Amino acid sequence: MSQKRLYIKSYGCQMNVYDSGRMADILKPLGYQLIESPEGADMVILNTCHIREKAEEKVYSDLGRIRLHKGENMILAVAGCMGQAEGAEIMRRAPYVDIVLGPQTYHRLPEMIARAERSQDKTKGPGRGVLEIEFPVESKFDYLPQDHSDVGVSAFIAIQEGCDKFCTFCVVPYTRGAEYSRPVSSIYEEASRLVERGVKEITLLGQNVNAYHGQSSQGKEWGLGRLLEHLASLKGLERLRYMTSHPRDMDEELMMAHRDIPQVMPYLHLPIQSGSDRILEAMNRKHTRQHYLKIIEKLRTYKPDIALSSDFIVGFPGESEKDFEETMDLIQQIQYAQAYSFKYSPRHGTPGALMENQIPEEIKAERLARLQELLNAQQQAFNEASVGQIFPVLLDRKGKQDGQLLGKTPYLQSVYVEANPRLFGHSIDIRIEKAFANSLTGSIVTVDEVLKEPLE
Ligand code: SAH
Ligand code: SF4
Ligand code: F3S
Repeated sequence: MSQKRLYIKSYGCQMNVYDSGRMADILKPLGYQLIESPEGADMVILNTCHIREKAEEKVYSDLGRIRLHKGENMILAVAGCMGQAEGAEIMRRAPYVDIVLGPQTYHRLPEMIARAERSQDKTKGPGRGVLEIEFPVESKFDYLPQDHSDVGVSAFIAIQEGCDKFCTFCVVPYTRGAEYSRPVSSIYEEASRLVERGVKEITLLGQNVNAYHGQSSQGKEWGLGRLLEHLASLKGLERLRYMTSHPRDMDEELMMAHRDIPQVMPYLHLPIQSGSDRILEAMNRKHTRQHYLKIIEKLRTYKPDIALSSDFIVGFPGESEKDFEETMDLIQQIQYAQAYSFKYSPRHGTPGALMENQIPEEIKAERLARLQELLNAQQQAFNEASVGQIFPVLLDRKGKQDGQLLGKTPYLQSVYVEANPRLFGHSIDIRIEKAFANSLTGSIVTVDEVLKEPLE
């Protein structure tokens, strides 16, 4: 079998990072090896995002650049949410693209490649015109290879996909399709294979991960709390995380998992988007500010040190200065460890795009700047409060400099530390020395045990 070079670029959320890994797994048996840049590639896949306009512009500009390297034999594919939403438009605007597919059809990639290779039809333009964006009846999870080909210390597993909530700003229900939860046994198998190969941290992914309701082997439906408990029984698995959650699906069992299961990390990403009930209603979030505050209060009684994160949208149609102030006030009340914030981007086909009272760009920009100033200050304060404390840090990456390793605290803060390379992949107690806006530095407290192990 001839060796072929494959380049994949992911845009957007962690689910796309996971999907890109799985596409590489599917193509490996066909002889495709991953490379780091599109030059000289036999196949290029752009795994795209449709969430905001900016993400989309980036893809078209990358496509233009890749076209310059595209010889006769390179197959160029656009996958992901933009492929799903804009398939025909991509083929029109960038006719040299050979394959367009959505997030639910990538298990069929080998077949699409074969079709593209056979295609002599150049009448549609220089590309080969393979378009696969219907939602299939089968689940791709039943067709993916059992093993991840590339594993590190920390891994993702998609457990739930799609969304039935239809927030009025959001394209995800249209691009990922209806909500689907994988059966427990299939997730457990994927996790145990990863753990056998040395994975110590697993992050469970879903567009609404806490809406998870998968079938257990006894035929019962399990929620996320129960699934976490089951996965925590895997020997060698030290850390469990999950994202992204929705406030409406934060049930008692899941909150208690933070209290009762030591492997479940003290961190929760729980987007609220806005602190104003009027705006939450217009967004069709179907919960109030009070509901969200109650959840946080309860969680903090179960797990007082839990670190919190959220997403915010500023400048949703009709957002007044008073609405925006309510968001600022909510942030003050909660005190986040970290957060993401965006200017509202009207998306074609969503109700928000048709609403009156769209907010002018300058106001969105000004509100975003104020919001980010507050969130950055909270993040800095959270990081500074870590100085002098000792945390277990899972050293899962090499730092930029020699002799440096990088890892995460339980609260998902990045820590740089001077360390023996043998410590890579271990969870080590680190005393935090300095705090920066986005990271910490520290020094090792004790590593005797690890240094005594024989070198592999
Ligand atoms: N399922 C998750 C979020 C998925 S999208 C949830 O329900 O929270 C990730 C984030 O992108 C959203 O939380 C939102 O803050 C942001 N986002 C989504 N659509 C957007 C839009 N049209 N304009 C700006 N930000 C948007
Ligand atoms: Fe989008 Fe709302 Fe669904 Fe999240 S819950 S994916 S924001 S529609
Ligand atoms: Fe983007 Fe699709 Fe993820 S729109 S954020 S890649 S679910």
